[in-house]
Amino acid sequence: MSVHAEVRRISVPQLTARKGQQKIAALTAYIAPIARLLDEHLDMILVGDSTAMVGYGMPDTLSITTGMLTAHAKAVVEATRQVCVVVDMPFGSYQESPELAFRNAAAMMAGSGAQAIKIEGTAALAPTTRFLVERGVPVLAHVGLMPQYMNVMGGFKAQGFNDAVAERIVRDALAHQEAGAFAVVLEGVTEALGRRITETLSIPTIGIGASPACDGQILVTEDILGLSGPRIPKFARQFADVGSIISGAAAQYAREVREGSFPGLENCFGVKK
Ligand code: KIV
Repeated sequence: MSVHAEVRRISVPQLTARKGQQKIAALTAYIAPIARLLDEHLDMILVGDSTAMVGYGMPDTLSITTGMLTAHAKAVVEATRQVCVVVDMPFGSYQESPELAFRNAAAMMAGSGAQAIKIEGTAALAPTTRFLVERGVPVLAHVGLMPQYMNVMGGFKAQGFNDAVAERIVRDALAHQEAGAFAVVLEGVTEALGRRITETLSIPTIGIGASPACDGQILVTEDILGLSGPRIPKFARQFADVGSIISGAAAQYAREVREGSFPGLENCFGVKK
């Protein structure tokens, strides 16, 4: 008899089929304990390169590696049974050529068990999306505000206020759809643009700071739990203050250790002195 609990994951085509039916609820997770808690509530977990900033305290997402994200994705896959797990491809691991992108995507999926990868990019990256999808790698495309392009964009800036940029983002999303992406993450675009792209595409849009009209939403879990420090993005909402709970527990533990009231070995193993 198998000792493993049954794994029945939402598949990539099932996510695509949600368009016009039911909104996709997605969050990020990087470690097993958080992923385990999210599993029964969500449709998709993204092992995002945002962990560079949220988990490692790096100033941006550019320095995280395929090895680091593969290890995080493996932990998330092993801790979940139901959600579709998507892993971000890090900066530098896919932009150079479709062949490099495939090698890295295949290694990340094989090394973690993730069902799909996410890449950021304008229409210039659509041939890479096609190359990957035709070789068995489902692609979630990420357009609009693309954190890996922060040095080109001049920071983390909302996009689409200018008509030319808005038109380009529509073309980017359509190009990835044409190339076979199963859904598109729309980050940091005006509400009007988010709505327009959602109405234009036949695949789901998953918004983050985009528009409530999107076919789904994604946020960084630490932002909704109060674990990201005092500054959270304007579009995020803090649903719980887990930071205070952790801090309170640590304070009580430290107090008990210092007072000598923290239980000793005899209480743990039922050994009486
Ligand atoms: O890295 C990430 O967490 C992301 C999402 C916030 C969309 O790309």
